[in-house]
Amino acid sequence: MTGTSLPVGAPPEGTPAVAPATLPGAGPELMRRLTSGLLAVEARIRAEVDHKDPFIAGASAHLLSAGKRFRPILTLLAAELGGGFSRDVETAAAAVELTHLASLYHDDVMDEADLRRAVVSANAAYGNSTAILVGDLLFGTASKMIAELGPVGVRIQAETFVRLCSGQIRDDHPCPEGTDPVDYYLGVLEDKTGVLIATAARYGAMFSGAGEEAERILEAYGEKLGVAFQLADDLLDITSEDSGKEPGTDLREGVDTLPVLYVKASTDPADARLQELLTRDLRSDAGGHAEALALLRAHPALDRAQAYTRQVAEEAQRLLDPLGDGEAVRALRALAASVVDREV
Ligand code: IPE
Ligand code: IPE
Ligand code: MG
Ligand code: MG
Ligand code: MG
Repeated sequence: MTGTSLPVGAPPEGTPAVAPATLPGAGPELMRRLTSGLLAVEARIRAEVDHKDPFIAGASAHLLSAGKRFRPILTLLAAELGGGFSRDVETAAAAVELTHLASLYHDDVMDEADLRRAVVSANAAYGNSTAILVGDLLFGTASKMIAELGPVGVRIQAETFVRLCSGQIRDDHPCPEGTDPVDYYLGVLEDKTGVLIATAARYGAMFSGAGEEAERILEAYGEKLGVAFQLADDLLDITSEDSGKEPGTDLREGVDTLPVLYVKASTDPADARLQELLTRDLRSDAGGHAEALALLRAHPALDRAQAYTRQVAEEAQRLLDPLGDGEAVRALRALAASVVDREV
């Protein structure tokens, strides 16, 4: 297997190229097909977010020049299990990325984030009202595109967005009394992140005619992959200095991620100081936030959470077993393996 860099995006005149994504496991011919599919998806996204009002066009395109395009790449790769790229696959891949983009506009309002894709977030640039409404507009655009694909696609898109929003709502609320905090956390991850990545994979199988069994397997694989992807994202929030997002956002906002849940459950007296910091409102306590972040960065709970992430990514890979060992399946396995160690 080879690890190959996939250049993402057809940047419009005068803008910098968007960041490359890595897709291990794909040979040169598959990479060529994926690259050309992704360029078409990128052009489609640009065309769909354009608007006759220049302010709306600018606010809608604000985040487009970067981003990994993980979900459309997954749709294109899943389509390799059927007839490959087509106009319908392009539509599905572009609509999934726009749904994701809409969720990022809303997420940054919720998380009071100032930085996204290495630029000032939409809420910081335009204010919360515009960020929320542009998120809604982008979601409407994605829904309109999916309508081209027929009622089953529309129903899946609607169910996906209901689950995504329910995950985000629960992400913003403490674990209810009597519920295991790790179970609650993993349920939130399945909904806020797993379901859209599941739909990205499922659409690829569905709109390439890969068959019902492939569709069902890709959906289950995508959901596990999505949970692993979010577990890795939650680790990066603690460890990364260079993700294009502000480190320690989850900690500051009181979103309890897996390593924090491990520390909170610890009975080791050495964890007392960190446990005390984790009871504070760190949004108004910059010193406490910095200290908690430093203690977490050095804490063995990170390794434990990473081992769990690896386990979930391996479960995702095993779900592909009934599909054999062709090149696309091998690339899908490698994609799942790669999320554990991703750096952005
Ligand atoms: C960020 O998603 C939100 C999560 C679900 C973790 P990505 O990590 O795919 O963000 P971009 O699209 O590359 O910016
Ligand atoms: C958000 O999770 C998941 C979404 C559904 C957008 P995060 O809040 O961890 O995403 P980032 O880290 O801001 O990208
Ligand atoms: Mg966030
Ligand atoms: Mg969030
Ligand atoms: Mg995050």
